Amino acid sequence: MSNDIVIEAWNTVLFEKFSRFKFLFVEGYTSISQEVFRRQPFEAGSSVLDIGCGFGDCTIAIAKSVGGAGVASGVDCASNFVEECRKSAAEEKVANARFFVADVESENLGGPYDQAFARFGTMFFSLPGLAMKNIRSALKPGGKFTQVVWRKREDNPWLHDAERCVREIVPVVSHDETDAVHCGPGPFSMAGPDMVSDMMQSVGFQHIQFERFDSDICIGRTLDEAIEFALELGPSGEIIRLAGETGQKLKGKVSAALGDVVSGYVRADGSVWAPSSAWFITATNPE
Ligand SMILES: C[S@@+](CC[C@H](N)C(=O)[O-])C[C@H]1O[C@@H](n2cnc3c(N)ncnc32)[C@H](O)[C@@H]1O
Repeated sequence: MSNDIVIEAWNTVLFEKFSRFKFLFVEGYTSISQEVFRRQPFEAGSSVLDIGCGFGDCTIAIAKSVGGAGVASGVDCASNFVEECRKSAAEEKVANARFFVADVESENLGGPYDQAFARFGTMFFSLPGLAMKNIRSALKPGGKFTQVVWRKREDNPWLHDAERCVREIVPVVSHDETDAVHCGPGPFSMAGPDMVSDMMQSVGFQHIQFERFDSDICIGRTLDEAIEFALELGPSGEIIRLAGETGQKLKGKVSAALGDVVSGYVRADGSVWAPSSAWFITATNPE
């Protein structure tokens, strides 16, 4: 089954939108990955694969932490993201961060690696079982895989309440009903520990553990930016985009309604911070 539509989405419309809000992603998500790295430091000299590396900030952080004797390799299906990663690594003069383009579901990931890592890079796989199997095959015996994914919708109101708000106003067009490119399964596709642990066990991972991590994240430096973010990204942004002209026409109405949703999270300095909740999932490749 071809993943072309999803890859095209990440390389075009989603790349543009993520670039526009890069500040929020990199700043907001860094606090979460730093917590993973604090709990599970990488060994100096090890080789680590960063899956769905996006702008590559985690890959670069991992490269610094494993030192010159180690190497961090970032993989993404979207060449536009990979180009950005290479530029950032060159600007920061990080020589042991490498980047390559591949579909994690179906293509060779190189290796074998000591460890694999993914910060919100595994939730958009159309065929997650195949991707997990491929990741395990790229690990050395005993190699560890740590992935960060969002927990359930209700504990991530910055995404879920925005989606509910938009659904009340904009008609939902399913992926089957449109020719428009789409992001694949949404951000909550890996939220269920039973489903995820069964899937990982079925492809041969062992010692599968879930650790919960809750934190407030910045979803806008101002209220207007938080509204714009919800209009463009996440499940709410995808509903508006996939609704085509109808979605565009309803943007004014949606914007006012989203204002009511996110205004509850405005802090004294005007920035907007909402509760979020993630799983840190670790699993090992058998010895
Ligand atoms: C939500 S972004 C996360 C990016 C980054 N890890 C971060 O935390 O900022 C998801 C990333 O996964 C990539 N991706 C989606 N499906 C993929 C696939 N099948 N193979 C490789 N990368 C994929 C996307 O291009 C995108 O860069």
